Amino acid sequence: MTRHFLKDDDLTPAEQSELLRLAADMKDDRHGFDSLNHQGRLRSVAVVFEKPSTRTRMSFQIGIAELGGHPVLLDAQSSQLGRGESIADTARVLSRYVDAIVIRTFGDDRIAELAEHATVPVVNALTDGWHPCQLLADLQTIAEHRKESLHTLRGTDIAFVGDAAFNMGNSTVIACSMAGMHVRIGAPAGYQPAREVLERAAEINAETGGSVTVTDDPVKAVTGADVVSTDVWASMGVENREHRITDLTAYRLDAELLGHAAEDAIVLHCLPAHRGEEITDDVIDGPQSRVFDQAENRLHAQKALLAWMIGGGHR
Ligand code: CP
Ligand code: NVA
Repeated sequence: MTRHFLKDDDLTPAEQSELLRLAADMKDDRHGFDSLNHQGRLRSVAVVFEKPSTRTRMSFQIGIAELGGHPVLLDAQSSQLGRGESIADTARVLSRYVDAIVIRTFGDDRIAELAEHATVPVVNALTDGWHPCQLLADLQTIAEHRKESLHTLRGTDIAFVGDAAFNMGNSTVIACSMAGMHVRIGAPAGYQPAREVLERAAEINAETGGSVTVTDDPVKAVTGADVVSTDVWASMGVENREHRITDLTAYRLDAELLGHAAEDAIVLHCLPAHRGEEITDDVIDGPQSRVFDQAENRLHAQKALLAWMIGGGHR
């Protein structure tokens, strides 16, 4: 059966850990893994965007090329998708051409329908509900900070403040639970992860020893945390921007809030940032920020994902 990566727990915790190890190896030896196409396993990959992107668009295209494959970009605006061709027909057609489909789209029902009708692996490059490729890069960045080994992810405290009810909040809860981390969500009512997400995290944490706590007190969420992460307050496709800014102002990641975290805590933000809104310049540009390592790690983590899904993950 074709394996897809539509949300974080489409991998098992053991697979996630294995893949992060491969991502670290790929970062250490950036051009040493280009033989997948020679084995006939990774020739062409469709990279489809129905929402804007800088990092994901670049890192997937470059990563596929570095693995020896050929990325083929498809934008909704310039393709028949933008004129209403069905996602099912698109899946059927693309499957005849490529070895995998990477897609950024809106509702999770849309990517689920694509995966249902595709005969090649489908990778989620962001939906409204999930951003699992981002979380692989985030975990790689945290593991680099914790240095000794990937096992040090287990027991690490991560605080996520702001809008935790959308893709980044959901994926942080699930991916970090899979890594056995302790997740503290600091978000007001209406911006906290949905009950189903928290229930799924509880199932995972029973296996991994991680935990998730939710509070509307940003200081409580951040106090003593090893990692502090945030995301924009109005995601792509989300409205009521002014209303959201009012609701979330107390959750801005500024120097004062960060001051409650562990002394050596690192700061993550998936980018793009609305500087001065959810995160201040002094924090994102400050010594604790790892946001550009995090952006770089998109490349390594996604190469590892594709190699692992399609190529078997070995040189
Ligand atoms: N973090 C992220 O996915 O960035 P882009 O929207 O630029 O791809
Ligand atoms: N939550 C943000 C993430 C951007 C990478 C959005 O969906 O716009």
